[in-house]
Amino acid sequence: MKNFITIEGCEGVGKTYHTKRLKEFCEQNKINALFTREPGGSRIAEKIRNIILDPTNTDITNMCEAFLYASCRVQHLEEIIIPALKIGKIVFCDRFVDSSFAYQGVARGIGMQKIRALNDIAVGEYMPQFTLFLDLSAKNAFMRKGGAQNDRLENLDISFHDKVYAAYKELAAAEPNRYIVIDASGKKDETFKLIIDSLKERGVF
Ligand code: TMP
Repeated sequence: MKNFITIEGCEGVGKTYHTKRLKEFCEQNKINALFTREPGGSRIAEKIRNIILDPTNTDITNMCEAFLYASCRVQHLEEIIIPALKIGKIVFCDRFVDSSFAYQGVARGIGMQKIRALNDIAVGEYMPQFTLFLDLSAKNAFMRKGGAQNDRLENLDISFHDKVYAAYKELAAAEPNRYIVIDASGKKDETFKLIIDSLKERGVF
């Protein structure tokens, strides 16, 4: 969907930081944009987020988790994202359907076919126009974050996050027109410049 841009990558890669910088950039340049994030982004969706990320909920099954993310996505999409796109805003979303592909489809081992089917129903025509993938391996991203461990998913073994990273790389290779691969190994300012330049090149700004 035109003007719908998502930001993806492993934990600690700097998604939150760059989303904040993008927000400041849009404000300074009077660009009419909405910034949101998944899982969450609306009252009900934040409630679902709390169930998913609660470290005591170790008994959630993989498939239940996949459905919770998809439910969260539908609520967020219908309540926040679609109305904003309809009034002409550019929507930036920190994580979206590709997180489900990488985390649930591949790393959790549910399989891409099932996760695609589930998310086809949840997302319909609202696939992102562009997906900024902040490219940094799970290990390097984790080290950058200082190894912080505070939610159920971050507590998983590094091999889980290696699978997430490999899945993103495959997704990016399979959809080169939608995926914008950003080298996130450099300094924050350098990475941010790559993001802005890539969006300018594609006519978003
Ligand atoms: P965050 O750390 O970016 O706030 O994301 C929360 C966690 O949720 C993160 O570990 C990635 C995970 N996640 C999925 O597993 N599937 C999804 O569909 C989404 C949106 C996030």
